Amino acid sequence: MAEVLEQVRPVEDFLVMPDAEIAESIEAARAELGGRVIILGHHYQRDDVIKHADLTGDSYQLSVMASQTDAEFIVFCGVHFMAESADILGKPSQHVILPDMGAGCSMADMATIEQVEDAWEQLAEIGVLEQRVAPITYMNSSAAIKAFCGRNEGVVCTSSNAVPLFDIYLKQFDKMFFFPDQHLGRNTGAKFGIPLEKMVLWNPHQELGGNTEEDLLEAKLILWRGHCSVHGRFKPWHVDKVRTEIPGIKVLVHPECTREVVEMSDLDGSTSFIIKTVENSPTGSKWAIGTEVNLVSRLQQRFPDKEIHLLAPDLCMCATMYRIAPQNLAWAMDNLVNGVIVNEIAVDKETKHYANVALERMISLTEKKN
Ligand code: 13P
Ligand code: SF4
Repeated sequence: MAEVLEQVRPVEDFLVMPDAEIAESIEAARAELGGRVIILGHHYQRDDVIKHADLTGDSYQLSVMASQTDAEFIVFCGVHFMAESADILGKPSQHVILPDMGAGCSMADMATIEQVEDAWEQLAEIGVLEQRVAPITYMNSSAAIKAFCGRNEGVVCTSSNAVPLFDIYLKQFDKMFFFPDQHLGRNTGAKFGIPLEKMVLWNPHQELGGNTEEDLLEAKLILWRGHCSVHGRFKPWHVDKVRTEIPGIKVLVHPECTREVVEMSDLDGSTSFIIKTVENSPTGSKWAIGTEVNLVSRLQQRFPDKEIHLLAPDLCMCATMYRIAPQNLAWAMDNLVNGVIVNEIAVDKETKHYANVALERMISLTEKKN
């Protein structure tokens, strides 16, 4: 074991290298590793990382695409829950690497498995679980929470398939407990006409989540009090302002934005939906987009014939995604060339099994729906 540790080349060696040398080092390592490695780049990654990606996409697409390759090493330029999902969906022979362990998702971190289990127990104590309650988690959550949903008849959803899955679950269950993004949950619930008073918020730091027993018994949707700080930066006044300043502009936002912003927008949908909508729009279209800045600026570069704006003038950047710098990627790749796997994300066997149950349920239910 000590021998292996001695071989690890420290990340500091790469932090001092000039940018051009870093880029060369990544490409040299890729050439040497060939088909043994695949580099995944989430839509929110910075350009100097994306340019090295073999595949780009949203979190779920990337994990599925990587699992369909024979690559031995999946280097995930994204955040922690995405790398966990790639490990859950990947082949047993595949190793998933997150180039910087500090790249978490602040929203996913707002719900821990201990808090979720405690909330579930509290619901059992007051008799809410005598009704049929389904736990549903957004892809942006830990593997442990996905597994909790798998064990309890629940499911995982993405921002692309939340609507069809809510449709199925609302028909089959009395209520849903949705983790961890209150906004995606509320925005999706609103699409089914659930009144706001039937969508209660669960604050994990308060007894009964800060609700009365009666509220919880009556609720149709219990929403975990989590949010994305990046999408929370888009405000209703940004929508008003852009519409006043640029007549004819269409507002296109991610459903992680608040209810008020989504309600005022023209369209809302996942990162893939946002990209497809702009791709399919005619020359001269005008868009104000409410999602992470790197995705929006790449759309601006790709479509100079369309007028594309970031909905908020201040920088809406996902700081944790930004932690994956080319230096970290070069470090991870160089170590692979030397036979050393750094920053491996490996979900334990039991968690993987039940998280897969929830993911498989998502896949089979959405396939049936299509
Ligand atoms: P996708 O599931 O579309 O990749 O989005 C993930 C995310 O973190 C959005 O903020
Ligand atoms: Fe998480 Fe928000 Fe970053 Fe997406 S944009 S990874 S939800 S913190």
